[in-house]
Amino acid sequence: MNEMSENKQKIAIYPGSFDPITWGHIDIIKRASLLFDHVIVAIANNMNKQPLFTVDERMEMIRASISGIANISVDSFQGLLVKYARRNNAVAVIRGLRAVSDFEFELQMALVNRKLDEQLITVFLMPHEKYSYLNSSIVRELASLDGNIDCFVPEIVKQKLLIKMRKK
Ligand code: PNS
Repeated sequence: MNEMSENKQKIAIYPGSFDPITWGHIDIIKRASLLFDHVIVAIANNMNKQPLFTVDERMEMIRASISGIANISVDSFQGLLVKYARRNNAVAVIRGLRAVSDFEFELQMALVNRKLDEQLITVFLMPHEKYSYLNSSIVRELASLDGNIDCFVPEIVKQKLLIKMRKK
């Protein structure tokens, strides 16, 4: 590592589907914001997935959920994560690890990304254990079945979910 790169701002990308953002994601964002100068929460605009929320809706919910944290921005990207990370001069990719069940897929993704760009470092962060069983698909399912999601997502996300489910 040369002197130039040591003095540079440390930017990290936190990529994901965020369909929708949960308290588990927010926990990871807060931890990452303490480690890096700037964190970009980046929604993958993945053509293979049929998300419940549009990219714009997901961006709005993320922005509203993290409004108190200064060194975070929200964006979306298409295509390879490593290319997006390079365009944004990121040094690291953040991923959350909740349980052992996450590990195999996350390891595979981290190793593929390292093969594609060995400068980009994947950093795994563990959310608080109270979020260890939480993910967006469970939240979507609970919302669709009228289950209580109060402790899983911020109020604004809950309201957007209720509106979305009413329209379906
Ligand atoms: O929240 P998710 O759905 O677990 O996030 C997965 C995501 C978006 C991080 C991953 O699918 C991704 O990086 N997609 C971008 C395309 C890419 O770079 N694929 C190669 C990585 S193995």
